Order: sequence, then C-alpha cells, then structure tokens
Amino acid sequence: MEKILITCSFGLEAIIKRELNDLGYENIKVSDGMIEIEAILSDIAKINMSLRCADRVYLLIDSFKARTYDELFENVKAIPWPDFLSEDSNFLVNARSFKSKLYSLRDIQSISEKAIIESMKKTYRKNIFSKSAEKVGIEIMLERDIARITIDTTGPGLHKRGYREDSVKAPLRENLAAALVDLSFYNKDRFLFDGFCGSGTILIEAARKARNIAPGLDRDFDFQKFIFMDKDIYKKAKVAALEAIDYDTKLNLLGSDISGRAIELAKNNAINAGVEEDISFIKRDFGSVALKDDYGIIISNLPYGLRLSKIDLDEIYRKINHKFKNLETRSQYYLTTDESFEKKIKRRASKKRKLYNGGEKVDYYQYFGPRPKKS
Ligand SMILES: C[S@@+](CC[C@H](N)C(=O)[O-])C[C@H]1O[C@@H](n2cnc3c(N)ncnc32)[C@H](O)[C@@H]1O
Repeated sequence: MEKILITCSFGLEAIIKRELNDLGYENIKVSDGMIEIEAILSDIAKINMSLRCADRVYLLIDSFKARTYDELFENVKAIPWPDFLSEDSNFLVNARSFKSKLYSLRDIQSISEKAIIESMKKTYRKNIFSKSAEKVGIEIMLERDIARITIDTTGPGLHKRGYREDSVKAPLRENLAAALVDLSFYNKDRFLFDGFCGSGTILIEAARKARNIAPGLDRDFDFQKFIFMDKDIYKKAKVAALEAIDYDTKLNLLGSDISGRAIELAKNNAINAGVEEDISFIKRDFGSVALKDDYGIIISNLPYGLRLSKIDLDEIYRKINHKFKNLETRSQYYLTTDESFEKKIKRRASKKRKLYNGGEKVDYYQYFGPRPKKS
C-alpha cells in the first residue's frame, strides 16, 4: 500500500473525505488542508480523475525528522531516486514549511535538489543531467520538523478541468464551485438557479456532478508520464469514468447574468463540458428573472470588490432581499467577500462558512429552505 496525500483549500476537508468514502476509501486522516489515505499505486489515476473539490494528489515516498540541513540532505540522498526518475527527468523541487526549524524555502529546495542529484550521480555514473524528459514535481513538506518527501502526481491543479477556455473577470475556481453545489443539497430532481452566473462555473459543475461526469475526464495529469507508473492506468480510469456517465437524467438548471459576454462564455463552456442541453442561459438582470416558489435552489457568487461602486451593491442586495420575500420554499446560497452581507440584506444566514477562492477569503452564506415535499 502507498500513502497518498491530497491537498485542498481550508474548509473543504470534510467534503473531500466524503468524496473519498464514496470512492470506497476508509481510514481517512484529515488535517487542515490535507487528507491522507492508503491506496495502491494504480489508484492514483482514479483519485485524480474523480475528486471534484481537491487541489492536488501527492504520492508520499519518505518521511523523517529534519531539524538541520545535514539531516535533510542525508535523508533525501538516501531515497532511491532512480526508482522514480529517469536520467533525463525534468524534476523540479518545491518546498513548504510550517512550524519547523528549517523554514527558508529556498534553502530547503536547493539542498534537497543537491541531495537528489548526488543520489542520481551514483546510479547513472554522470554529473550532468539534461532534464529534457517528463516533468516530475517533487514537493518537500515540512511540518513540526517532520519532512515529508512527495511527488505531485497531478500537475496543473485539479480545478483545471479543461472545459473553460476563457472566463469573466472574477471567475470562481471549479473545485470551489463544486463544493458550493455539494454544500447546497442540490440533487438532479431539484431546480437550480444562478442569477450572477458569469462563465457558468457553478451550474456546469452541478450538471457534471448530477450526470456523474468525472471532473478529470478532459485533461491530462503528470503521473501519465512517470517511469514508475503503469502506462495503462490512465486509460483504464478514463474508460471506467466514461462508462459511469448518466446520459438519461433530465436536469433543470438556469443561469442568468447582466453581461452578454458572460452568457456567451457560459454557453461555450457548457458545450465544452458536455452539459449544454442541461442548462439554459439568459442575459438578464437578477431582479427581473421570474422564479417559481418550488423548493428550488439559488447559488450565486456575487459581484464584489473595488470594480463596483457601493450603489451597485446596494441595488443588488435590495433585489436579493426581494427574492427572499417571494420565494419562501427556496434554499438560497450566496458567496461573497462582503463581511457585512447579512447586515445589509437584513437576514441572518442559517449557516456561514469561511472558504477560500484561490487564496482569497470568501464567505458562503447558507439560507436553508424547507425540505422538498415528496411527490
Ligand atoms: C463574481 S462574478 C460571477 C463569476 C462566476 N461565478 C464564474 O464562475 O464565472 C459576478 C457576475 O455578476 C454579474 N452581475 C453584476 N450585476 C448583475 C446584475 N444586476 N444582475 C445579474 N448579473 C449581474 C457580472 O456580470 C458577473 O458576471
């Protein structure tokens, strides 16, 4: 069994734990921004392909105490690097450090790199390495003086699904959008509306989840080229993901935005994501979209920041308040950086969650509606 480390932004750990449970994993260790499981090497393909809310998937290759640079150097050198790297691998060393004696990331990085080269020199009997072959990201994670030496199996972050060609000014990360949907109790039988849909990320993620379209289906991962990974595992995971897609479900999703360009982008993204038939997009001001009071769900990532004057936001909040008055059975969820949101719309959220959109703190205001009546 191998140790696999999965990183995510703060606040999403429990969701990823649930995703891993659904994939059949037990004994899941959770800490801030990190989830640890045991799995066989070939599972790396399935995990990368399937997780909707995580950032990256790492393979742990060693861990040891490192309170001095000597300790770090000797232990990194002792790892059998030629098992993981060919003589031409383009390996890149990255470091992070938390509450540890060794904290200079640049030094941790360069000392580890020197140690890897020393180990390679012995096996390959040469001093210079071309780094002309596959990319291998090596991440040295130091926490409380324990160094964990890992290989990044993902490459570009898991939020990069491959369907977004272009986006609006303040796009939402796809993995955060997927988490917002997860936290909203959306399921394929309910109506979902985003009145500030921008490039359509929330609705696209909802539709792909409802259809069981694996988030990593349309992209490549770094592990595909690693010398120590079986070349077939990616293909097998892809075939399994394709077979699992639910083509029969009928979905009911609506997106609107005041910007025509945003609607154009959203439509294109939905086509790329294979869910264009599931979502209707219209160019419209939030206030003038008529919705039925039918136990549906609203999830929106609100406009915010310096680009907008205070008056614009006040007007938007007035419209949101109006929606609350007329839609008593709806569950409403709003993501914003505006910490005075509740005060401004004069409604206390059922729950407020602190989340991060690519490092920026945001709050998710959750207003739970009544449970839908069984028909
Ligand atoms: C933060 S962005 C949403 C980004 C989106 N979640 C995405 O992933 O691309 C906010 C959006 O609200 C839209 N907007 C601003 N005022 C609006 C209004 N009164 N009615 C509808 N949409 C509005 C903007 O055009 C912008 O696309």
